[in-house]
Amino acid sequence: MDITRVAVIGAGTMGRGIVQVVAQHGYPVTMIDRDQAIVDASLASIKHFLDRAVAHERLSADDAGVAMSLIETDLAVEAAADVDLVIEAVPEILELKQQIFQRLNAIASDDTILASNTSSISVTKLASSTDRPGQVVGMHFFNPVPLMPLVEVVQGLRTADETAAATIDFAKRLDKTPVKVNDFPGFVSNRVLMPMINEAIFCLMENVATNQAIDDVMRLGMNHPMGPLALADLIGLDVCLDIMEVLHRDLGDPKYRPCPLLRTMVAAGKLGKKSGEGFYFYE
Ligand code: CAA
Repeated sequence: MDITRVAVIGAGTMGRGIVQVVAQHGYPVTMIDRDQAIVDASLASIKHFLDRAVAHERLSADDAGVAMSLIETDLAVEAAADVDLVIEAVPEILELKQQIFQRLNAIASDDTILASNTSSISVTKLASSTDRPGQVVGMHFFNPVPLMPLVEVVQGLRTADETAAATIDFAKRLDKTPVKVNDFPGFVSNRVLMPMINEAIFCLMENVATNQAIDDVMRLGMNHPMGPLALADLIGLDVCLDIMEVLHRDLGDPKYRPCPLLRTMVAAGKLGKKSGEGFYFYE
């Protein structure tokens, strides 16, 4: 399976980061989103980060130009018809992802790998929306994608070994470090990370300490690059809540119950960095 052309569906924070990394490694990539405003904002964001890399001499102006020239955009999933790898990166809504996999199943070439950047939804469940479950795999990137080395490669119950191997190989070509895990709610990353973030929110709700103090404890005592509340703001509180709901529902253990304060903040539209306010305020 030789991957030479890629499409990314969903141009939000994760999608645009994946597009940037793929283009910077010399692969033509089509960024697909049904919302033109999001496509425009994502192109501007990618250009901004490439320009900063040029300004700080981490990238040549020529390479930045080549990367931008490798990015095409489209508003329709059908633009993914002729690529070797599709990476779906739309919001964590099962029905939305299933619809996209059904459409991809109808239009994609026979040997296209259909990957999902899902952070917690079952890859096996997504694969069952297609009649080619052997070609469906999880390709879970981390935010900010251009800076984080890990790709969690999730092998569903029916993912073919060749598909997992080709995905691992492609992640390496992007200079990422792939780690293969099996399909289980939250995989490894979010099964371990999200309960920690959730517990930090309980600490805040129960007035154990202030937001800054909770983050300082984890930064300075545990050497985490940022505290759990600042990290929740970076990830998005709606995403954190969605993942906790999946862990709670699919593992059926009360230890995964989402903190009520997390629910209230999401209901209030305080989603973290992207909305300008979460546990902290942002410009
Ligand atoms: N794209 C490209 N470049 C970027 C970027 C982006 N999105 N974000 C920052 N950069 C660039 C910056 O422009 C900067 O370069 P310049 O100085 O030339 O402008 C350079 O990268 C370094 O940026 P920062 O100074 O902001 O970096 P930092 O040293 O403060 O580190 C951090 C920031 C990498 C986010 C670090 O704090 C960290 O590792 N935090 C933890 C992040 C983490 O845990 N992520 C995983 C979240 S979980 C997830 O994503 C999965 C899930 O399913 C929920």
